[in-house]
Amino acid sequence: MPTVHVVQHPLVQHKLSLMRNKEASTSSFRRLLDELSMLMAYEVTRDMPMQEIEIETPLETMKTQVIDGKKLVFVSILRAGTGILDGMLSVVPGARVGHIGLYRDPKTLKAVEYYFKMPQAMQERDVIVVDPMLATGNSAIAAVERLKALRPKSIKFVCLLTCPEGLAAMGKAHPDVPIYTAAVDRELNDHGYILPGLGDAGDRMFGTK
Ligand code: URA
Repeated sequence: MPTVHVVQHPLVQHKLSLMRNKEASTSSFRRLLDELSMLMAYEVTRDMPMQEIEIETPLETMKTQVIDGKKLVFVSILRAGTGILDGMLSVVPGARVGHIGLYRDPKTLKAVEYYFKMPQAMQERDVIVVDPMLATGNSAIAAVERLKALRPKSIKFVCLLTCPEGLAAMGKAHPDVPIYTAAVDRELNDHGYILPGLGDAGDRMFGTK
């Protein structure tokens, strides 16, 4: 099993419950996802490296700590990762962004890559991969495999929901990648959906169904 951080904060759990409700409109789903992503960013960046700078307050000079946001890369797994990316960037605006386009073959449920674009000098960067649903784990596993080839300093994975099957698959393939999630649901169904889940995250955030 990988290291799994389930973010139990009441604000996270409250917003997730509202998102799960099938009556939530596209706009409220998107707004909640944005807010939840900011809260998840708070957790996943807890041990981010800081650097010391010197500033002048109105009264005197002092040394203080700031985040070196440029060293951080958010990697969004298209298309649903976009929803998490926006919220995370609003709290870490200096971060770089990478995209991986993967679609799920509806028959095999395997991840097929159609796009890959990362910032330069990935060996100097800490990577946070984002995708709302860690279901079969196929997309996450393929994305992390691709990223590992670029030898970043570290890789973490952030989702909103996962299930025992997704955690087991990810843990087998990438036991060194910690997972941050708001909940671990009961199970995966035969179509690769998480139960009870929240449905198709991409369709719900973009209103495509
Ligand atoms: N992707 C989704 O959007 N929802 C699921 O339940 C599983 C994968």
